[in-house]
Amino acid sequence: MRYTNIALLFIVGLLIASCGSKETKTEMKQADIPKDWSDPHSYAKPLEAAVKHLNWIAQVSFKTKKIKASATWDIENNNADSIVFDTRNLDIHKVLVDGAEEADYYLGENNPVLGQPLVIKLPEGAEWVAINYSTTKDAEALQWLNAQQTHDKNNPFLFTQSQAILARTWIPCQDSPGIRFTYEAEVKSRPELLTLMSAENPVKKNADGIYKFKMTEPIPSYLMAMAIGDIEFQKIGEQTGVYAEPGMIEASANEFANMDSMLVAAEKLYGKYRWGRYDVIVLPPSFPFGGMENPRLTFSTPTIIAGDRSLTSLIAHELAHSWSGNLVTNANWNDFWLNEGFTVYFERRIMEELYGKDYVNMLRELGMQDLKKEVSELPARDTWLKLDLDGRNPDDGMTSVAYEKGAFFLEKIEELYGRKEFDKFLNTYFDKFAFETMTTEKFVSYLDSSLLSSDTALKAKLRLNDWIYGPGIPDNAPEVTSERFQRVESALKAWSDGAFEAKELKTAGWTSHEWLHFLRNLPDTLSNEQMTELDKSFGFTKSGNSEILAAWFEHTIKHNYKPADDALESFLVSVGRRKFLVPLYSALTEADPSKNRATAIYKKARPNYHSVSTNTIDEMLNYENDEE
Ligand code: BES
Ligand code: ZN
Repeated sequence: MRYTNIALLFIVGLLIASCGSKETKTEMKQADIPKDWSDPHSYAKPLEAAVKHLNWIAQVSFKTKKIKASATWDIENNNADSIVFDTRNLDIHKVLVDGAEEADYYLGENNPVLGQPLVIKLPEGAEWVAINYSTTKDAEALQWLNAQQTHDKNNPFLFTQSQAILARTWIPCQDSPGIRFTYEAEVKSRPELLTLMSAENPVKKNADGIYKFKMTEPIPSYLMAMAIGDIEFQKIGEQTGVYAEPGMIEASANEFANMDSMLVAAEKLYGKYRWGRYDVIVLPPSFPFGGMENPRLTFSTPTIIAGDRSLTSLIAHELAHSWSGNLVTNANWNDFWLNEGFTVYFERRIMEELYGKDYVNMLRELGMQDLKKEVSELPARDTWLKLDLDGRNPDDGMTSVAYEKGAFFLEKIEELYGRKEFDKFLNTYFDKFAFETMTTEKFVSYLDSSLLSSDTALKAKLRLNDWIYGPGIPDNAPEVTSERFQRVESALKAWSDGAFEAKELKTAGWTSHEWLHFLRNLPDTLSNEQMTELDKSFGFTKSGNSEILAAWFEHTIKHNYKPADDALESFLVSVGRRKFLVPLYSALTEADPSKNRATAIYKKARPNYHSVSTNTIDEMLNYENDEE
């Protein structure tokens, strides 16, 4: 080759490298495991050999309730002689390494929380491994619904829930939030159903039931997600839309009409949305959470479809995770507050843009009530922001400490240093650490050098260590008051003092939040006449709003208000959202310590719940499942 050609090639090479610098940056980042990587909830050893890209080919059988798949992983191999994956209750059929040689592998000892490490021997310089496997009936991430258990009742449905450490029950993976990879997938299922993933998604069904997916941004395993069912799509804005069963699609699109404004508000606050589209899927009622921030496709409970758009802060929350969590990710589950505390703070900023401070003060006050209650019940160590969940199920960290104490801590920084400065800090933070993981310690040191140390007097006022490495709610917590709630309290007082009848109270314009505050603050003792009066005046038992229903049922159980019994039972049989189940089953056992009533309802309802919920309620009721 002549020198001129070489020079030309060099220049072209430079040009390509500079045009593609974004991609190059991303590609380098996926292999970039932090030197201090550690995760008590994963067997992986990513500093020796780490996954980079997944090619997942799967066949889904609703008949056998199994997924048969091959997971081919491109790996970054640091001269390791083996690579370690997390698995739990998977049937491993065959493992191939590079040139399709059958590899040596073994499954380690089974730990009830973590599952089994899958250790695959690597020949020198190996670049990929392929694992052929099937899921089993014990795949806790998966919920297989028969037609009866869906909204429309015509077709079966399957959805996954991978967070925190359930991805390993449906894909052998390095199941740590500190390890990121890109993926592509090809999934075959019944032709009458549509398949979606946390990736680029189809908007309509095709004839063969085979769908292809691509996630080009590196994500951690807990964001792997899939939903299959009789699902339709409806557009909301240019970049946003909603998926749901046909019978839910109109109501869902109407409820989420403000999704586009949320996206605009979020970008204005903390920078560009980096995931392409933002869509939401409304799942059948057994979905165990309110929402799950699967990238490009938030999973949502149908219980936020209230008809009046009053429960959509949940969408703001899941959208906010596109920055806090999905872009800058907690390094392991002990740093969970970095995901959730930031997200609650961000969610409230979005809601403030859309609905004003008044509205957000209601959310803050409800949050503070939850936090106070939970702090009074939890062991002190679980009320630090920085958790210590070693040897425990990371699910134990899902308390309002991470969410609310985390959010109020960030509010406190904002209060001291000013909103303008704090927003500037957050913008830089999300940009600088995009597609990386974050530990509490790294965050503290970055916060200190780029904001706190600019003013040592303010820094002393913050008392950062009390918040992060100390118990309870520090006494410098931001003030929380809500004028709209004060009006609710006056109405409530006027009624309980006997000054007014319930139907005379001025409740026009109350949102779900005001009703929730009203219900949470009803006097401890209520006569049957008073319960009847409230129900007659406000139609609680017949409410279509799940938040109102759930709060009301706590009283009907406590006061043995019979007219609500049927509605309570049908709520518990159809809704599987754990946040509602826990207080209701606990009210049931308090009212009847023999647990007979709770157990009788649970026996009927349990087949409809996801494992995330049954695990919790089984333990609460000491329930021995004899169905299997
Ligand atoms: N990522 C969480 C859900 C989660 C956390 C699942 C930990 C598994 C383990 C999600 O973003 C979330 O916080 N959902 C909340 C709703 C939110 C508005 C507070 C929920 O489901 O209640
Ligand atoms: Zn969240």
